[in-house]
Amino acid sequence: SYQPTPDDGFSFGLWTVGWTGRDPFGDATRAAIDPADTVRRLADLGAYGVSFHDDDLIPFGSSDTERESHIKRFRQALDATGMKVPAATTNLFTHPVFKDGGFTNNDREIRRFALRKVIRNIDLAVELGATTYVAWGGREGAESGAAKDVRVALDRMKEAFDLLGDYVTEQGYDLRFAIEPKPNEPRGDILLPTVGHALAFIEKLERPELFGVNPEVGHEQMAGLNFPHGIAQALWAEKLYHIDLNGQHGIKYDQDLRFGAGDVRAAFWLVDLLETAGYSGPKVFDFKPPRTEDYDGVWESAAGCMRNYLILKERAASFRADPDVQEALRDSRLDQLAQPTLGEGETLAGLLADRTAFETFDVDSAAARGMAFERLDQLAMDHLLGAR
Ligand code: GCO
Ligand code: MN
Ligand code: MN
Ligand code: MN
Repeated sequence: SYQPTPDDGFSFGLWTVGWTGRDPFGDATRAAIDPADTVRRLADLGAYGVSFHDDDLIPFGSSDTERESHIKRFRQALDATGMKVPAATTNLFTHPVFKDGGFTNNDREIRRFALRKVIRNIDLAVELGATTYVAWGGREGAESGAAKDVRVALDRMKEAFDLLGDYVTEQGYDLRFAIEPKPNEPRGDILLPTVGHALAFIEKLERPELFGVNPEVGHEQMAGLNFPHGIAQALWAEKLYHIDLNGQHGIKYDQDLRFGAGDVRAAFWLVDLLETAGYSGPKVFDFKPPRTEDYDGVWESAAGCMRNYLILKERAASFRADPDVQEALRDSRLDQLAQPTLGEGETLAGLLADRTAFETFDVDSAAARGMAFERLDQLAMDHLLGAR
């Protein structure tokens, strides 16, 4: 059955179903919803948890007593439903003070404020049981060339993450950071635009082991990239600490469609990869129910994210279990790809001495061998479309 249960480990950001539909061209189409109601509705739908930005839970500028009462209401809803908080994050993009970003704002005072805002919310995240802290550099970027000295801005970004790494270490928190790439929107160009940029950046940090990536389906696709390939490299680097699932159609504005409603083939290979790789981190739906929807449509959309994941999981498992597929994988020499290129115990000298590898190698007949990928892919299509 495609009915999710908490064992499936699905989470939603409060800001997803809570998006009221305000966009650059139009006002909100839905009334705001109480985070405690969101927790209860998502629990009814079979979700495992929720994540939040500080400002989703505690409106920016709340007094300390207001802050405490918001947290209390939220915590009561969590306790009553058994919902978990696998991850949390900071809003460093809505308030006008962050118009040039947080960690890389040219204004030093604003950078100091941003760090304090993050640290305050890290304390709350840990209090609520989160073990992953997402960092999306929403407005870390620029619209014009001289406005941002990118090398210096990366120094400031590193300084910020190094300080956060020190902070969680000194506090003894069980918390790792997941950096979320995005190529553009809301800035013309955003720093750390893709998974690859973020992975390279992490290696320059003082405590790289505390930092991984939080790739979002649509963000890589906005850059025209193959999302499952990016995820595979993040897994290979042991850096997939979190994932944001949604849908996108190609290179255009960030659509944040419900999961499965974008590039369905990419979604199929993604679920196949996550399930076969045994990914066990947070699986968070970061989507925006279109502003055409009332709240019935919002909950339909949220339920659809989980349903589509479970359908694709079943389709991917049926693909892997099909004996015809296993034969087709061999015909496409995936078993050979898994073999090291040198033989066991063989050295480079062995390769150089092997005349069959070069001098007598029959290049033309090797070139003539088909790879049989089309049959393999059609089998995948048959499974994906439910025709097998
Ligand atoms: C986007 C981003 C955001 C972030 C979230 C966490 O769609 O532009 O994904 O939704 O994930 O705000 O900070
Ligand atoms: Mn996201
Ligand atoms: Mn997005
Ligand atoms: Mn998003």
